[in-house]
Amino acid sequence: MSRAITVLPLDSPTLPPGLREAAHALAAEARGTLGQEIQGAARRALFAPSLRPGHIIVALLDGKIAGMASFNFRGSGPVAPRLADFVNTLGVAGVWYWALFNYVEMRTGTSDFYIVGLDAFDGFKRRGVGSALIGELCRIARQYGAEAIEADVRMDIAFVREFYRRLGFKPTRYRPFSIGWLITMTNGPYTRVSLSIT
Ligand SMILES: CC(C)(COP(=O)(O)OP(=O)(O)OC[C@H]1O[C@@H](n2cnc3c(N)ncnc32)[C@H](O)[C@@H]1OP(=O)(O)O)[C@@H](O)C(=O)NCCC(=O)NCCS
Repeated sequence: MSRAITVLPLDSPTLPPGLREAAHALAAEARGTLGQEIQGAARRALFAPSLRPGHIIVALLDGKIAGMASFNFRGSGPVAPRLADFVNTLGVAGVWYWALFNYVEMRTGTSDFYIVGLDAFDGFKRRGVGSALIGELCRIARQYGAEAIEADVRMDIAFVREFYRRLGFKPTRYRPFSIGWLITMTNGPYTRVSLSIT
């Protein structure tokens, strides 16, 4: 089934133009960690100008965007948040959100290669999209010379646990404290999991 899935970086010249624009908008709006109060146009104003397209991959299936994933490598994430964009969009409060967002982007701690976001979209679940995205992340991580890929996931949710277990991820033993970690934990009981790719 995964034969029909194509996974490309957001900056790939082979991503059809119509889909590229849609994928850029989805990537800019996907920054869930800032909470629900910032949505739609405001999210695009904050993040669209500073996406790092090489850190975002898009899965195509049936000619549509079926899923997306993004990663952080050694502190460089899918977005390079710019203070000016935050202040222009949110006024003085933008300074706080900019600082917060920088911490969230940097929440990898000691992780070399960290999955920031991974989604198979509605209508495309259980068709191998999530697995194909992880496969491509592994390929990219090897190119970068990383030894493992890591993520913070909700292991209390059965299907999430099963998805990562099936792919060979294991909970990691130790995680250093960081403000990004604290922010992640206030969103739910996340567990750091790791997949060795050596
Ligand atoms: C988790 C997620 C990425 C899985 O993507 P997907 O494309 O549906 O997964 P795949 O088709 O590659 O599934 C691979 C395997 O994972 C397991 N799995 C995936 N979804 C499952 C579900 N709902 N119930 C049980 N097992 C599931 C199965 O073992 C599956 O293999 P199978 O279909 O041959 O049985 C997707 O459900 C998603 O985007 N969820 C919303 C976002 C999310 O929860 N992200 C993780 C945050 S912690």
